[in-house]
Amino acid sequence: MTPDFELKQYLEERRRLVEEALQTALTEQDGPEARVVEAMRYSLFAGGKRLRPILCLAAAEAVGGDSQSAMLAACSLEMIHTYSLIHDDLPAMDDDDLRRGVPTNHKVFGEAIAILAGDGLLTEAFVLLGNDNALPPKHTVKLVQVIAKAASYRGMVGGQVVDMLSQNKPADLETVQQMHSRKTAALISAATEAGALAGNGTEAQVDALARYGRAIGLAFQIADDILDIEGDAALLGKSTGADEARGKVTYPAAVGLERSREAARDLVDDALAALEEFDAKADPLRALARYIVTRKK
Ligand code: IPE
Ligand code: IPE
Ligand code: MG
Ligand code: MG
Ligand code: MG
Repeated sequence: MTPDFELKQYLEERRRLVEEALQTALTEQDGPEARVVEAMRYSLFAGGKRLRPILCLAAAEAVGGDSQSAMLAACSLEMIHTYSLIHDDLPAMDDDDLRRGVPTNHKVFGEAIAILAGDGLLTEAFVLLGNDNALPPKHTVKLVQVIAKAASYRGMVGGQVVDMLSQNKPADLETVQQMHSRKTAALISAATEAGALAGNGTEAQVDALARYGRAIGLAFQIADDILDIEGDAALLGKSTGADEARGKVTYPAAVGLERSREAARDLVDDALAALEEFDAKADPLRALARYIVTRKK
């Protein structure tokens, strides 16, 4: 059995568990909220990779915890991520027509409902976390802090602001690194940190997994920038060539494709180094780090 095959199976199994939990977490509604919940479910169940929730579950396992203890945190992260995609695609932002292989939320539901569907997913993430009775309240408060901070202007929202304000400006490496660390790595790092917390990891383990998440999070956005140039739109389920067309500041725009690939590989090494003290229970995280820079979608 090749390591690749094992990861594929692991990803498939985890994805199925996350899918089930999300279906339970966000059910169809009647009444005035029916339309917005339909729009929330449209994007949530359009078939993402579920990478952030899977990382969250894998981090809980890596510290010797039960991955189920991290499931609601995992679902909350996927809701926040999906909201960020709906808003990222809006005409006022990246103005994209295709996401997860289907028309973007605003193309189907209109801009007003798409904005509200994003708002609905962001807030629902915290409803879910607040309802987590399986964890001690102290843990729940910490999870809310970690996830809210990563989604806030300190993290994802702040990175998206830099992305929008630096359009059509020269791309310097420091700006791109800062921007990517916030718009993408913050939430990915929150996923592994939250998983480690929910799995009852030690302080040192939680710190190490947050560090791992920061490294693969940055590598993930570098890979996303590279895929926008040389990826297959049909596989990705979103348009390619969009970054250059919109004058986006990206890693390849700053340092070229070859140095971007090198930087992503170096970050994978940093991520693996952060896992040095972990035993075989962190093997899925090791395989995920490598997958993040070799993925085709
Ligand atoms: C896309 O994220 C947006 C970025 C932060 C680069 P993913 O590539 O994880 O998208 P899905 O969830 O699989 O659709
Ligand atoms: C988006 O970055 C990061 C988010 C926080 C949503 P991109 O704008 O490059 O993501 P894609 O390529 O549209 O998925
Ligand atoms: Mg964007
Ligand atoms: Mg975009
Ligand atoms: Mg992109």
